[in-house]
Amino acid sequence: MQFTVCRSLRIRPFLPPGLEDMEPTEHVIAEMFDRISGRYDLLNHVLSGYTDVRWRKKAIRQGLQRGAKNVLDVSTGTGDMAIGYKKHDSRIHVFGLDISMEMLKIAKAKAGAGVDLVRGSGLSLPFKDATFDLVSCAFGIRNIYPRKQGLHEFFRILRPGGQVTILEFSMPHGLFGRLYRLYFDRVLPQLGDLLSGTEAYTYFTASVEAFPAQEDFIHLLAAEGFRDIEAIPLTHGIVTVYSGKK
Ligand SMILES: C[S@@+](CC[C@H](N)C(=O)[O-])C[C@H]1O[C@@H](n2cnc3c(N)ncnc32)[C@H](O)[C@@H]1O
Repeated sequence: MQFTVCRSLRIRPFLPPGLEDMEPTEHVIAEMFDRISGRYDLLNHVLSGYTDVRWRKKAIRQGLQRGAKNVLDVSTGTGDMAIGYKKHDSRIHVFGLDISMEMLKIAKAKAGAGVDLVRGSGLSLPFKDATFDLVSCAFGIRNIYPRKQGLHEFFRILRPGGQVTILEFSMPHGLFGRLYRLYFDRVLPQLGDLLSGTEAYTYFTASVEAFPAQEDFIHLLAAEGFRDIEAIPLTHGIVTVYSGKK
């Protein structure tokens, strides 16, 4: 049953090596997002104090700085990144891909005909090699297991010189980090689970904890072949925008 698997992720950082197979499967993740889809946008805005909108805008600007014309947004969810690209420049051809049908239905209602939405897996992207100028993934790579395989796919479908932009949660340090930690540990999972009526936000905090630190994630990107990698922390490092070139 799904939340047995999610609980194991909560203790995963403390598990001995070799038990990574306890990470949730795509099916489990898709079901979880199907269940929270109706409240996903509102919860995001409320729990981040609307800062999520600014984070995505920054990632979009970062992604488009080199004039991308063909864009794939992986783990597009309810479509805000994909819609953001079209708003920025209506001539850009944007695909949004996600594993959760319910999230995509909401994206469709919001995006209309301007964005091509595809149900599919970030682990096996249904596109030919060297198709896109830009591949983005906002708050999605954390949920894609095995992560290396996802990054390998991002690299494969980028044309040479193309860019990856990844927006993901990170943990801030210092005094701000200690204050944020109280919110992250004591408020976010309880309030999120209560408002969503699921254990998705317990999974959320566990998955953020289990996600590599900035330096380690940069190494993962480099290991897949990306170069000129940058990591820009936003809001004192609550999230980080990573970018790299093929
Ligand atoms: C936290 S949401 C992020 C949605 C959106 N990008 C945003 O900025 O709000 C993560 C999304 O990743 C999708 N997802 C998780 N695993 C996936 C996979 N293996 N392949 C494609 N999408 C996946 C989920 O269905 C969910 O819609």
